[in-house]
Amino acid sequence: QEDIFKKVISHAKEYGYVFQSSEIYDGLSAVYDYAQNGVELKKNIREYWWQAMVQLNDNIVGIDAAIFMHPTTWKASGHVDAFNDPLIDNKDSKKRYRADVLIEDHVAKIEAKIEKEVKKAAKRFGDSFDKEQFLATNQRVLDYQTKVDGILKRMGKSLENEDLADVKSLIEELEIACPLSGSKNWTDVKQFNLMFGTKLGASADSAMDLYLRPETAQGIFVNFLNVQKTGRMKIPFGIAQTGKAFRNEIVARQFIFRMREFEQMEMQYFIKPGTQQEWYEKWKEKRMKWHLSLGMGEDNYRFHDHEKLAHYADAAADIEFRFPFGFKELEGIHSRTDFDLSQHEEFSGKKLQYFDPEENKSYVPYVLETSIGLDRMFLAVFSNSLKEEELENGTTRTVLKIPAVLAPTKAAVLPLLKRDGLPEVAHKLIDELRWDFNVIYDEKDAVGRRYRRQDAAGTPFCVTVDHQTLEDETVTIRHRDTMEQQRVKLSEVKDIISKEVDM
Ligand code: GAP
Repeated sequence: QEDIFKKVISHAKEYGYVFQSSEIYDGLSAVYDYAQNGVELKKNIREYWWQAMVQLNDNIVGIDAAIFMHPTTWKASGHVDAFNDPLIDNKDSKKRYRADVLIEDHVAKIEAKIEKEVKKAAKRFGDSFDKEQFLATNQRVLDYQTKVDGILKRMGKSLENEDLADVKSLIEELEIACPLSGSKNWTDVKQFNLMFGTKLGASADSAMDLYLRPETAQGIFVNFLNVQKTGRMKIPFGIAQTGKAFRNEIVARQFIFRMREFEQMEMQYFIKPGTQQEWYEKWKEKRMKWHLSLGMGEDNYRFHDHEKLAHYADAAADIEFRFPFGFKELEGIHSRTDFDLSQHEEFSGKKLQYFDPEENKSYVPYVLETSIGLDRMFLAVFSNSLKEEELENGTTRTVLKIPAVLAPTKAAVLPLLKRDGLPEVAHKLIDELRWDFNVIYDEKDAVGRRYRRQDAAGTPFCVTVDHQTLEDETVTIRHRDTMEQQRVKLSEVKDIISKEVDM
């Protein structure tokens, strides 16, 4: 699995998707740049989301709030006091860990043992092996599972109660029972705030301390009444936004999965108090449908309901995706109650209430939030699309099966030869197609090699112009995923491709 992940990272670089930031200076940890293909894929994911959330919903509108916000915003939202990670240092190795991640790593180790037991049994029992039954009845597996549940429960409780001494002793116990770091010498667990600070203003005494926003959501909350009034919105209604967020992540690993500067796509849905359970269920279902519409495999998604809740939520679930390093959070669906709007009322002294004409009274709405990381979605799409395929002739090909609607370049136009007027016909076709989608021209190397290059870059269609084209105005369209080729009229090319790539 580690190998697959390494391949994902190197492929992302080699094919112009993601570069390390400031690479010539040896990079900056957990900061990445999107390259010529990456920026297109990212834009397409953003648009696919925006279309589903804003364009297709009468009652959801978009905004684009600033990254800088009045500093009181973050006191009101709870981020100054409660947006912390529990950190622990190892005195021997001088390494710093996020306490909860370290505990989860222990859990992953135990889960790997369960997986091993399953594999062993599957081998022993062959066709008659029933995995579900095995997991439910095998005593050793059940013991492991009880252990995992116990550890996670205790961690959740201690973190919730801010009992950091117990988090430390849990780590110490785990390090003795199943060593990971190989050391017993730990500092106390300390809370570390994740917000980046900066200053506004030139002179030292008048400068104002600011934060880079750690989530886009607050820009929507403070604008809630402006949008509701100017857009004459009636509850329930939503406000959507995409934009950068910043977190001083300590355990920055796993490529673009956990970054210090990243992009969120969030939607806050304002609802009548008391209806939150209903909307929570609805939005969980709607968001899962959106993911499944991309056809990346139902088995790759699952819900994870939270026991440990963020300071603002009364219910929360993640949509988890099967990344190369296992199932991890891709999107969060949070029932945020009236926490944020009430806090902003209190700290600003301004009313943030909605007059409900049906009820003939004013109230602070409740909020249901959907929040997905654009970079994380990018990683989900990219890592799931990268395949090594064995072909019938015994060779292998590397292919990036990005869903066609999201692919950076939709088609490559290839003249079979660099002469006989074929390049001219190819360029003419490109001039026609480029008004509808991204196309590129490639004339270098044998056509088979050019196909392979486009496969690896993720281009869903190759259009080949050959001598027959000059006679009967037909070309070959080759499909990336099936490698099938069809002969079609030049005049049909645009419609055939558009049908597959239009959102
Ligand atoms: N407004 C709610 C909120 O920000 P969150 O669970 O902290 O909730 C939402 O973040 C989503 O943002 C996550 O599901 C993840 O996809 C993405 N995300 C959070 N931290 C990230 C990071 N450091 N790097 C990349 N994506 C991140």
